[in-house]
Amino acid sequence: MPTPDPAALAFLQNRRSRPAKTLCPPVPEAEALRPLLTAAARTPDHGKLEPWRFVVINRAAMERLANVVETRGAALGLPAEDIAKGRSQFDQGHLAVAVIEVQKPSPKIPPLEQTYSAGAVCLALLNAALAAGWGANWLTGWPSHDRGFMEEGLSLASHERIAGIIHIGTETTAPPERPRPDIDRITTWL
Ligand SMILES: Cc1cc2nc3c(=O)[nH]c(=O)nc-3n(C[C@H](O)[C@H](O)[C@H](O)COP(=O)(O)O)c2cc1C
Repeated sequence: MPTPDPAALAFLQNRRSRPAKTLCPPVPEAEALRPLLTAAARTPDHGKLEPWRFVVINRAAMERLANVVETRGAALGLPAEDIAKGRSQFDQGHLAVAVIEVQKPSPKIPPLEQTYSAGAVCLALLNAALAAGWGANWLTGWPSHDRGFMEEGLSLASHERIAGIIHIGTETTAPPERPRPDIDRITTWL
């Protein structure tokens, strides 16, 4: 018979994000963040390629990134409201970890599998932060897909991109539960 871990299962069955805009200080210091990164890096990775890395964004870096978003939005000719929305997570954020997908050349592991692994790292980091009692939220937005922002803001190389920006902080208000998928509708048993 399997040995259950009821606490872990209950956590996974009930976990939910906390909207980034509701997070406030205190945020985890380096010492508290390290075990969360360690948990996140313990993620399935076909071929042991480690196709990901982390960039920790503190408050000062947030301010700089908000300005990069502004510059990039203007260069792209985006409407003011899109620019404001794109920079809002950096205007409001206190701590975040950008999970960077790092594509590794491999004759065996397709790029898509490396992308999946990077996405799994995002969820693992989100869950580790929630399990540690922090509020956390996985965000992207147009700057996360803009090559100029990636290079100017985070100094990413051409084989790297942003998988997710995980905001971590202290939750202020608990959001209402959102509807969850109907398991019978999305599951086929063969
Ligand atoms: C790849 C990805 C990118 C996301 N980007 C955003 C975003 O930019 N803005 C936003 O409001 N929500 C975004 N979300 C949704 C939030 O993370 C949302 O809090 C989450 O879906 C709630 O799920 P949960 O309650 O199961 O934790 C994104 C989700 C994913 C998976």
